[in-house]
Amino acid sequence: MKAIIIYYSMSGNVKNTAERIAAETGADLLALHPVKSYPDKGAKKFIWGGKSALMGDKPKLQPYIFNADKYDTVIFGSPVWASSFTPPIRTFIEDNRQALEGKRFASVLCQLGNGDKKANKKLKKVLGVEELAAELVLIEPNAKPKEETESSILEFCGKLKSIDDQG
Ligand SMILES: Cc1cc2nc3c(=O)[nH]c(=O)nc-3n(C[C@H](O)[C@H](O)[C@H](O)COP(=O)(O)O)c2cc1C
Repeated sequence: MKAIIIYYSMSGNVKNTAERIAAETGADLLALHPVKSYPDKGAKKFIWGGKSALMGDKPKLQPYIFNADKYDTVIFGSPVWASSFTPPIRTFIEDNRQALEGKRFASVLCQLGNGDKKANKKLKKVLGVEELAAELVLIEPNAKPKEETESSILEFCGKLKSIDDQG
């Protein structure tokens, strides 16, 4: 399996999780950064980000390199915002629709409490697939002792690997 984790993270939960999965699986990492950053403090943080997610915004991204031919598996990492995946992920998918064709997809979501099911449903719709190969949902992993999330991360990585072994 050659995988890449393409993620957006505002406050580090998804970033740390993505880095942990990369260490476990050898996947590459690609962090997405909108040209115009979302406010990350106070009420603005929730209002702007929440509205942008609900509206299905596609914010322009800072330049990145994505060499699609190298990968058979693309793992999208995102916080849950207003029961959705985040707008930078939407931009990436729209901008790389052709390059993503035929890939296997998985998702890694971090959240405070809920919205992951709707977020995964929306992600599948945008990707045009019925199922994701594996889904990992973590609740604020940065605020928890590492052991609490470790088994979920290992289970997720194991699932990806076993699907790959089956061909
Ligand atoms: C704009 C915004 C909307 C959010 N909406 C939700 C939500 O619908 N459900 C939820 O459980 N958490 C929600 N959260 C919390 C984040 O998903 C959670 O803190 C996540 O772990 C952050 O990941 P990060 O540290 O990688 O940015 C929201 C946070 C923001 C900033």
